[in-house]
Amino acid sequence: RAFDVVVVGSCMTDLVSQAPRLPKAGETIHGHKFFIGFGGKGANQCIQAARLGVKTAMICKVGKDFFGDNYIQNFKDNDVHTDFVWQTSDAATGAASITVNDAVPWEGENAIVIVAGANMRLGEEELQKALTAIRKAKVLVCQLEISSQTSLRALQMAHDNKVRTIFNPAPAIPDLDFGFYRVSDVFCCNESEAELLTGYSVNNVEDAHQAAQELLRRGCTAVIITLGPQGCVVLKAQDKTSTHVPSTAVKAVDTTGAGDSFIGALAFYLAHHPDMPLEEMARRANQVAAVSVQAVGTQTSFPFKRDLPADLF
Ligand code: RIB
Ligand code: NA
Repeated sequence: RAFDVVVVGSCMTDLVSQAPRLPKAGETIHGHKFFIGFGGKGANQCIQAARLGVKTAMICKVGKDFFGDNYIQNFKDNDVHTDFVWQTSDAATGAASITVNDAVPWEGENAIVIVAGANMRLGEEELQKALTAIRKAKVLVCQLEISSQTSLRALQMAHDNKVRTIFNPAPAIPDLDFGFYRVSDVFCCNESEAELLTGYSVNNVEDAHQAAQELLRRGCTAVIITLGPQGCVVLKAQDKTSTHVPSTAVKAVDTTGAGDSFIGALAFYLAHHPDMPLEEMARRANQVAAVSVQAVGTQTSFPFKRDLPADLF
């Protein structure tokens, strides 16, 4: 069986508290709402792609526990293929403690601590078992919430088999192996990740153009830097200058996972419309992500094809 989009990445149980602001170190504050949701950047991206209507498979590891069992059911409910979702009794299902500041209209900032747990047990052995799915995929997507060695291997395997790759270096690490750039067809990160990777400060569109040039020099085929409400900047190796792709203004209530919605949508377009200009894919992915920020939660806020205008497909 061949899949359009294969994600090698993380699953986390999101433990979300909504509060009037983010607490300071050593401080306790009252929040007003708590909920548990399905998260993890890898799974989020996979589920967004699936909801737009492509065949997806997830390659990941969860714990042999209640959260892991529930997560597998969540994939099934979202039509994500689960033959490559493994369970381990050596570690617990990954968890993310998330605080969302919902007091400031337009912002909806968050702070997240992740404990990757079982995600770190995904390795070469599992990649070998999923090799056929990786080889036959149209698009492979990786992030950095699993072992970075595993991510790099997966990207290499895809690249060697001419599968188009999207790499999202999140959460960013300062000394990212340069091998990642060489195997990334689309290297897609947000402003703070771009800052950490390049050492440039990225506060506006102009800065993002500069940072994108630096990331491209390191060997990827294209770079996208997402800028929240300002949309994103796209730079392709064959072009000299980058393009700013603006986003339409919306009132954000919870931006958690907006980047994942964007990347999942990008993977969808890359698989479904491989010849579409990358700038147009980014413009449409901005629109999908803009829908996600207007609802609370991560996957719960990700739109389905039926929720979106037909001209996005
Ligand atoms: O990108 C958002 C995700 O980051 C959340 O779902 C949380 O699980 C963390 O991994
Ligand atoms: Na949201």
